[in-house]
Amino acid sequence: MPIARVQRGFVLGQLSSAVAHELNQPLGAILRNAEAGEAFLRQDPPNLAEVREILVDIQTDDRRAAAVIQRMRSLLQQGELRFEAIALLELVAQAVAMLNTEIQTQQVTLRILVPAALPRIQGDRVQLQQVIINLLLNSLDALSAASQGQRQIEIQAAQAGTDRLTLTVEDSGTGIDPDRLPELFEPFYTTKSDGIGLGLSLSKTIIDAHGGRISAENRPQGGARVALLLPIAEED
Ligand SMILES: Nc1ncnc2c1ncn2[C@@H]1O[C@H](COP(=O)(O)OP(=O)(O)OP(=O)(O)O)[C@@H](O)[C@H]1O
Ligand SMILES: [Mg+2]
Repeated sequence: MPIARVQRGFVLGQLSSAVAHELNQPLGAILRNAEAGEAFLRQDPPNLAEVREILVDIQTDDRRAAAVIQRMRSLLQQGELRFEAIALLELVAQAVAMLNTEIQTQQVTLRILVPAALPRIQGDRVQLQQVIINLLLNSLDALSAASQGQRQIEIQAAQAGTDRLTLTVEDSGTGIDPDRLPELFEPFYTTKSDGIGLGLSLSKTIIDAHGGRISAENRPQGGARVALLLPIAEED
């Protein structure tokens, strides 16, 4: 599979129209608020109380737009994917290391069942790390309501057929509303008050660009499981 480089247009294509739409909302609101603010200042005497409220609204909208751009940043900056042969265990360990503090403070029991002897996968290290981090962050969020001692995350990997590995991240958290499962990977679908809804759609964009697959389900015993299928590196 000689896809050494994937153009950024390909990687971003599916997301960009949703993102443009999403950025349009706060930008439109900021403009309308700024116009209203001008009008309030022209009143005699100027209505400063209204202007103050408007400035708060403008800040809120601006922060949301900035957060959307921030989440897109690593894909936007990198431009193209750099594929190499990667040991899955190392990749998982690196992603987990980034979230060590959160895992410790939330007192989550994390089990990593990734055999070191698995063949290496073909992928972009930075982007795949980002995917694993997104999944772990979602699990951590889903566990925050669980009582102490009941907070578990498990990361497993196995070979799937001759040319793929599967990597799963599962947790003992709230699980996913079954009615919303079809929307899960759509940009800006979120159930969190402080969420943007980009974690899973960015992850899907990255996994698609690897020729892989991402899927999600609820576990019978409660909690959610997200599975990745990733291609094995050619030389392995
Ligand atoms: N492990 C999980 N357990 C329960 N629900 C989940 C899990 N992972 C994702 N979800 C649901 O899917 C929604 C979308 O997830 P996604 O990561 O795309 O966005 P987000 O976490 O809400 O915001 P962002 O990742 O942009 O900060 C979440 O709001 C949540 O409702
Ligand atoms: Mg998320």
